Amino acid sequence: MLKSGNFMPVSALERVAHPQTEITAFAKRDYTMHGADYLLWDEEGGAHFGWWELGMGLRDRAAMIGEMSQQVISRLGLPTDRQVKVAGFGCGAGGTERILAQAYPLAKVAGLSLPGAQLDLGQQITREKGLLDQVSLVGGDYFHPPFADASFDGVMGVEAWCYAKKMADIFHQAHRVLKPGGRVVVADALFRHSHPHPITQKIYEIWHHHGWRAVLTPKDQLLEELLALGFLDVRIEDISGHVIPTVAHAVIMATKYIAENMISSNSVDVQKNRHHLVAAYTTALMGACIKDVGYFVISATKDK
Ligand SMILES: C[S@@+](CC[C@H](N)C(=O)[O-])C[C@H]1O[C@@H](n2cnc3c(N)ncnc32)[C@H](O)[C@@H]1O
Repeated sequence: MLKSGNFMPVSALERVAHPQTEITAFAKRDYTMHGADYLLWDEEGGAHFGWWELGMGLRDRAAMIGEMSQQVISRLGLPTDRQVKVAGFGCGAGGTERILAQAYPLAKVAGLSLPGAQLDLGQQITREKGLLDQVSLVGGDYFHPPFADASFDGVMGVEAWCYAKKMADIFHQAHRVLKPGGRVVVADALFRHSHPHPITQKIYEIWHHHGWRAVLTPKDQLLEELLALGFLDVRIEDISGHVIPTVAHAVIMATKYIAENMISSNSVDVQKNRHHLVAAYTTALMGACIKDVGYFVISATKDK
């Protein structure tokens, strides 16, 4: 394992990141170009790491992806006996939003994600499953969600808030749209602290600049920011051990996806596919830097 030392102040970690406008523009392009291909990853449209635990099959990716959604949903603490409204910020094809709707027949779920193929696919799956009454997926930016103040019982985000240079800005919007006592639950990767080992820092820079442009926020910084926003019961649970099997799946799936692309087009479209491979392999490398990087479920409650 890598040894961490006091190398890198928070500001320097933030400085290496692209400007927010470029990160969002990249994500929009990427999920338009490759959005529908995430079906290879999960037929239900879930584009996130899965939750594995003893007793689950290591190969059953769909079960692990579904279980991650369940883990996030259960932490929202929703009642089953009355109508509730939940927003999914960065919903993609809406896999988690549909699982919530099926588990809570009285719930209305509003998914918000960058417009493009992934969101269109989500609409199609929602229609096919007969869930249009409960689940609406809309195109938009989670820094400016088109939702009224104090209008939701829960806000969730699954592996989507890492496209924010300042994750607390999305939590600020979540806080705004939550009703008093409402809960926010987010699953994503974070830096464990703001001074990663130089090797981790190098891998992170490659992952950010040549992979998905995503950003890792230091955990302690986020905790302080959530408390400053006025959230209560803030918990940041380390669930890294549960996601390891699907990190391995990500490497295999990215390789398979690009090989299939090459075979079907009889050519290697390096520009189109390079960042997918770089991202998948550097994600696995970062996962090995376990002292510096982890995968977490962040949950908090808006004050009554
Ligand atoms: C890895 S996918 C996860 C999608 C979905 N939450 C899931 O678990 O299947 C990341 C998502 O973040 C969304 N995203 C990135 N930046 C965004 C922004 N500024 N506003 C809204 N959505 C954003 C993308 O559109 C993409 O769907």
